[in-house]
Amino acid sequence: MSYKSLHFYEIENAIEDSLEEVLRGLIGKQKMIPPKYFYDEVGSNLFVGITEQPEYYLTRTEVDIFRCYLLEIVEEIGTNCLLIEYGSGNSEKIRVLLESLRPCAYVPLDISKQYLATAARSLAKEYPWLQIHAICLDFTDEFELPFSLNAKRVGFFPGSSIGNFSRLEAANFLGRVRRLVGEDGGMLIGVDLKKDPIILRQAYNDAKGITRAFNLNVLNHINKKFRADFDINKFEHLAEYQRENGCVAMYLSSIENQKVNMGGSEISLACGEQIHTENSHKYSVDEFASMARESGFSNQKVWTDSNTWFGIFYLS
Ligand code: AVI
Repeated sequence: MSYKSLHFYEIENAIEDSLEEVLRGLIGKQKMIPPKYFYDEVGSNLFVGITEQPEYYLTRTEVDIFRCYLLEIVEEIGTNCLLIEYGSGNSEKIRVLLESLRPCAYVPLDISKQYLATAARSLAKEYPWLQIHAICLDFTDEFELPFSLNAKRVGFFPGSSIGNFSRLEAANFLGRVRRLVGEDGGMLIGVDLKKDPIILRQAYNDAKGITRAFNLNVLNHINKKFRADFDINKFEHLAEYQRENGCVAMYLSSIENQKVNMGGSEISLACGEQIHTENSHKYSVDEFASMARESGFSNQKVWTDSNTWFGIFYLS
């Protein structure tokens, strides 16, 4: 089936997954696995499971803010923009905005070709009035749009995924978005805010153990991808709020002295040794606003929930 208003592009700027990169992370003093390895098919489904847990307030709170302030948000952005979603995944969140915002075109960006194509097709079917330009690429790198359309460009980055970048990476990313959207463009972005560490600890240690399974699954993914033999029963999930870094840090802690084989190399882990898997940075409204200013956005408008747990910023 062909769709008149659906276009598909591929920009090959993604860094290839490499055994060397993962090995390097596992032989250093502080062992680490890059968080991109969370998201194989099982991991992506587990992440959806996390967003449904009562302790994981982020997704629910963000959607509520969108619903509550939709008209104000639309008024701030204006209709007819070129809406560019970073890491669009299944293009679920954009649905809250589309009917009211009525962009002249929607540009989903995602690294997973399969996911992007399926989501773009179902969106094209559901919104026949919408022009879609789906681009498969690594959106964390600099790029230009591979088509031209004369409209105000607005970036959309929900879910507080910016929290998974280091503070420096986040500032650089905002700078790149600012360059892509230009002088009159903007960026609508969801950011998880600083709060009582107890709430944060619960959010990343849900009672059903979905976050635990998500964290451990990274080892299964590495096993399949790089012929490794991690035994997930020999690791424990740890997630703690580090006040000094303003982030929830996740680790897998080895419960015994062990040796793991990966692609022919041996990795030794002492009992209690931790593999760092993810940071999830939390910002105060002022911290994020000043980072946005330093990245070239001069105006910031923010909407929050009544607890001030989550913020949706419009940067322009
Ligand atoms: C995708 N990202 C915003 C999630 C977060 O909260 O940092 C990933 C996650 N990790 C554990 N739970 C959720």
